[in-house]
Order: sequence, then structure tokens, then C-alpha cells
Amino acid sequence: MKVLFVCLGNICRSPLAEAIFKHKVKSIDLDGSIYADSCGTAGYHIGELADPRTRANAQKNGVTITHRGRQLQSSDLEEFDYILAMDQSNLSNIKRLSNSELYSEKIYLMRSFDPHPGEEVPDPYYGDEKDFQQVFEILDRSIDHFLKEIRAKLL
Ligand code: 4NP
Repeated sequence: MKVLFVCLGNICRSPLAEAIFKHKVKSIDLDGSIYADSCGTAGYHIGELADPRTRANAQKNGVTITHRGRQLQSSDLEEFDYILAMDQSNLSNIKRLSNSELYSEKIYLMRSFDPHPGEEVPDPYYGDEKDFQQVFEILDRSIDHFLKEIRAKLL
């Protein structure tokens, strides 16, 4: 199974989501059967490590991010089984790229798996440490619930 996390720049939210997800997948010994990656709808940060504030916050929470930025490409829609968008704008950009209804059933908002109310994972880029920590917590619990759902399908 292949899972892709998508945000705008691929330096804050989606590389963090990818790293949290991989960390959890490994802890339940499913890293042999689940592949994960992340990308941005924009191409501003191709090849870059995640934002230093995101990496520092992740490290503080026990998660290491090694991802390098890349841009979403149309072949991703074919290749991945789940495509998880951080916000509505990412979601509509992904759907625009797909240019058909063919892939719509595999494209979700990340927070559709969040048990707490809220639609979007807020962009922390212009925020402070409190905003980065809030993003971590939203992703941590949304990914727990997402993982529960896909795990049931793998068994
Ligand atoms: P992300 O945050 O989409 O969570 O990676 C952003 C990072 C950089 C920019 C925008 C959003 N930027 O405009 O450079």
C-alpha cells in the first residue's frame, strides 16, 4: 500500500506527516507493507530539507525528518493508493491535476481522519513554535486514526 502526504511547499506539514506516519508504521512492524512519501503542490523548495523549525519540533517530539522536497506530479495520482491533502487549497490543486473523476476516491483531507473538529492542517510557515506544536498534535492524532483504518484493510 502506498500513501502520499501533500501540502503546498513540502517543507512544513507534509514531510512532518510522512515522518510521523513512518515512525508509527515501523513501530507496529508494517514498514514492509506500507510505503509513504510526501510532496508539495508548488515547486518552491525542490531538493530542500524540511524547514528547520519543523525539524526541530519533530525532533523534540521524538521524530526525525530526512525528506527532501519534491513537487506533486500527475503520475502520483496513478501510483498512490491514498493521497492526503493538508488543506482545501491543496485538495483542489490535486484534483485539478487529476483532471478526471478517476482518482477522486483516493484523495482525502488529512483531517477527515481527525477525531477533533477541524477541516484543515493550518500552515505554520508564518507562525511560531506554538503553531508548529499544534500542527504536530493535529497530525499525530489524525495519523493514528488513519492508520487504524488502513490497518483494518491490510489484515
Ligand atoms: P507547507 O508550508 O505547505 O506546510 O510546506 C509552506 C512552506 C513554504 C511556503 C508555503 C507553505 N512558501 O510559500 O514558501
